[in-house]
Parts: sequence; C-alpha cells; structure tokens
Amino acid sequence: MSQAPIGVFDSGVGGLSVLREIRARLPDESLLYVADSGHVPYGEKTPEFIRERSQRIAEFLLGEGAKALVLACNTATAAAVADLRERYPELPIVGMEPAVKPAAAATRSGVVGVLATTGTLKSAKFAALLDRFASDVRVITQPCPGLVEQIEAGELEAPRTRELLRGWVEPLLEEGCDTLILGCTHYPFIKPLLRELVPESISLVDTGAAVARHLQSLLDQRGLRASGPAQGIRLWSSGDVVAMQAVLPKLLLELAAVEALPV
Ligand code: DGL
Repeated sequence: MSQAPIGVFDSGVGGLSVLREIRARLPDESLLYVADSGHVPYGEKTPEFIRERSQRIAEFLLGEGAKALVLACNTATAAAVADLRERYPELPIVGMEPAVKPAAAATRSGVVGVLATTGTLKSAKFAALLDRFASDVRVITQPCPGLVEQIEAGELEAPRTRELLRGWVEPLLEEGCDTLILGCTHYPFIKPLLRELVPESISLVDTGAAVARHLQSLLDQRGLRASGPAQGIRLWSSGDVVAMQAVLPKLLLELAAVEALPV
C-alpha cells in the first residue's frame, strides 16, 4: 500500500501550486492530479455542487489506487472535507484553509488581508477559523471573482490580471494590512505580479508548504510513506485537455500528458 499514489485535486490548475510543494518534500511519492476544469471556478458554485463533484473525483482517485487524498483547494475543503472524512473514515485526507493562524501571529500592524474565493469567505468553516485565531487582529476579506479564470488561461502577468489585483490590493494597503493571505491555491501563481504591486515589507502567506508537511506526517503516522522510485505524475482534466496542457509550462511544471477525466 505504501507504494500507492497520492490523489490530489482542485477545481483547475491551482492545486498544482500545492502539488509542487508535495513533490519537493516527498520526491519518492507517485502523484495523481485531477483538475475539475470543466466546472471551474468553484468559488462561485454552491456548496452542494462542490460536495457532489468532490465525491465523484474522490471515487475516481480511489479507483486509481490512491492511498491518501489532498483537497488542494480552499473552496472544496470548506464545502466538502467533512463529508469526505465521514465517507472514508480510514483514509488519510488533507484539506486546506487560509493561513489565518500564522498571519495573525506574524502581523505587526494588527491588520491582515485575506484574498480568497467568494465560496471560501462565505463558508462556516472560514467564520470558525476567524473566531478561533483572529480575535486579536483586524481581518479584512477580499473576494477575487475573475482571478481564477485569468490564472486558468495562463494570463499570469496580463494587464487585465494586474488591473484586477491592483483594485483589490490597494484598498487593503490603505487600511494598513502588512500581511496578505493567499487563500486560494491558484493565487501563488500570481505571486510575482503581486510582489510588483505591494511594498517589500508586506508578507504574502500561503499554505502549500504546510500542507505538504502535514501530509508527510499523516503518511508517517500510518506507515504509508513510499520508498521510491516514484512513478511520476498523472494528470486529468474534466475540461479542455489541450488548453490545460498548453498552460502547464507557465506554471513551472514540466510537461506531462493531460488525460480526459471520465467523471
Ligand atoms: N483553487 C481553489 C481554492 O483554493 C478554488 C478556485 C475556484 O475554482 O474558484 O479555493
């Protein structure tokens, strides 16, 4: 079982920002990745819809032999992780949430901005996260509709992407934010652009590396770490396979063939 692959999924290419952290930390692991690009963005969908898609994708990945699941998507985690854990109580399942705890500990101005999808920011899980970790700081949330679509299209530095980001980030800076949480797995791909728009002193926080560490410790606890050699990465998309293939080099991922997701 320890040689079995790890299944990772997201609404699209965003979770590849998490996959690259997993690959760096756990190079002996074989990886399966599903981009639900036919239904992106999740951020504007209902929790019921996202739960239904997450269930189907989880079944598909388990059918491909996955020994663990990573929901490389904040929006899907908020909507579906509890349901998946209930369905598969024995399976290691790693979800992700905006890095409110580390940001609240790190801020010096006491003001933290959260960039995330509408779905994540509206979720009960996010409200609980704020209650738990952000009582001593001011948190300003900023949904970013349209940003995921730009990233899916590989428009990481396009004028439109810059314009959208500027419109969201400038007010946060005016409010005194010194820490910005990238609360969606797509956003680490526009970190270079964001860096151009905010002063050096502003911290940009995401959780990809922490998720890879957490996955490592779950696998260790259960004796599920692979000892290599890894079988590499298999990728599936429920949307336009050719378009996803074309975007991969921009996301710093060496070419792997994208297959059509049958669910
Ligand atoms: N990448 C996802 C997240 O972390 C969702 C993006 C979307 O499809 O709206 O929230």
